[in-house]
Amino acid sequence: MRTFEVGGVKETVVERSDYPLAKVRQILKDEKILVIGYGPQGRAQSLNLRDNGMNVLVCNRRDANYDLAQKEGWKEGKTLLDNMSEAVKQATIVLYLLNDAAQKQCWNQVGPYLQPGSALYFSHGFSIVYRDQTGVVPAKNVDVILCAPKGSGTTVRRLFLEGRGINCSFAVHQDATGRARERCIAVGIGIGCGFLFETTFEKEVFSDLVGERGVLMGAIQGIFKAQYDLLRAKGHSPAEAFNETVEEGTQSLYPLIGENGMDWMFSNCSATAQRGALDWWPKFAEAVKPVFESLYEEVASGRETAHVLACNSRPDYVNDLKKELAAIDSQEMWQIGKIVRELRPERQKALKPAVAKTKATVKKVAPKAKAKPKAKGKAKRAGK
Ligand SMILES: NC(=O)c1ccc[n+]([C@@H]2O[C@H](COP(=O)([O-])OP(=O)(O)OC[C@H]3O[C@@H](n4cnc5c(N)ncnc54)[C@H](OP(=O)(O)O)[C@@H]3O)[C@@H](O)[C@H]2O)c1
Repeated sequence: MRTFEVGGVKETVVERSDYPLAKVRQILKDEKILVIGYGPQGRAQSLNLRDNGMNVLVCNRRDANYDLAQKEGWKEGKTLLDNMSEAVKQATIVLYLLNDAAQKQCWNQVGPYLQPGSALYFSHGFSIVYRDQTGVVPAKNVDVILCAPKGSGTTVRRLFLEGRGINCSFAVHQDATGRARERCIAVGIGIGCGFLFETTFEKEVFSDLVGERGVLMGAIQGIFKAQYDLLRAKGHSPAEAFNETVEEGTQSLYPLIGENGMDWMFSNCSATAQRGALDWWPKFAEAVKPVFESLYEEVASGRETAHVLACNSRPDYVNDLKKELAAIDSQEMWQIGKIVRELRPERQKALKPAVAKTKATVKKVAPKAKAKPKAKGKAKRAGK
């Protein structure tokens, strides 16, 4: 296994070469794996396990995702079930992949039915770490393990089909059988992990909740919005503001960060862009530091998860959520974003009807989208 040390911390990464498929199949040969939930993660993880030759069945309530599972080859009454407690009784490893609030609601259909010596698996530390709020406390005679892909279910499946694996965290919370770690890694490779980094349930959930509220999702929308609104207030056109805020980042610069890191992206931009980025990044870091500190505190105190659980248990939450998402969609930044995205050559070929629809929907701003983006200065490889 590969080990490395950065910042005085030694870490080990488990790779597929450490656990080839033959070894994984051997470890899991007597296991009956149940995946509860056919949402993004449940679907991806169960399909990958099945394609890897594991003995796997899925369970979802009867709705659109149940129908999808049937379409994807799961056999009703055999490998596709709708009764959680009956399904759990049959399984030796249970992947509990309902949404985190539903894990709390449905625990009475899962916990009491786990067989002694079985393993309960999560893809998030939420239910276990915040057990005072969720009531998810597994019996002492079961293994409690975690494998959390660092990406959406769609990416888990996509990378698996491409023959690549996704980065995952893994952890053991309770080792009742003495085999918990081995089971965890084997299932992790089975669901499509390429690289498994060891952690604890608590560290996984704290970092994950901070990350998605921070730079992965919440902060990025906030920063995009602040810059876009400023540019618009200073008289820049919607297309210009969008290109300088979102499109150039997602299409040109962020992939370069992903390839070789921030300094490489900086060094592949113009001298002007580099100088500015180097001078301004510390000011942004200083400005947002207090927000990140309060975010971590909200997560660690449990107030953030209490809020998530309270929202998700409100009967009108689904409708309110739709309204909140529609409000983001209707922001001018994302309306012009639709038009700019549809200009991409591959979209024009593949999505002709969608182009027409988008243009009609945002007719009022459409003419401005056709305005030429401002001329670039000395453009180098990254476009800056
Ligand atoms: N999304 C990510 O990027 C990501 C990454 C790593 C780990 N995880 C973790 O993986 C787990 C599953 O996440 P996900 O991305 O698949 O999506 P999710 O939206 O968190 O969960 C979807 C699943 O929950 C079920 N569900 C929701 N409410 C339910 C209820 N009241 N009763 C029964 N079932 C209910 C859905 O069933 P229906 O089909 O019937 O609605 C679906 O099967 C979570 O613990 C999440 O934190 C997510």
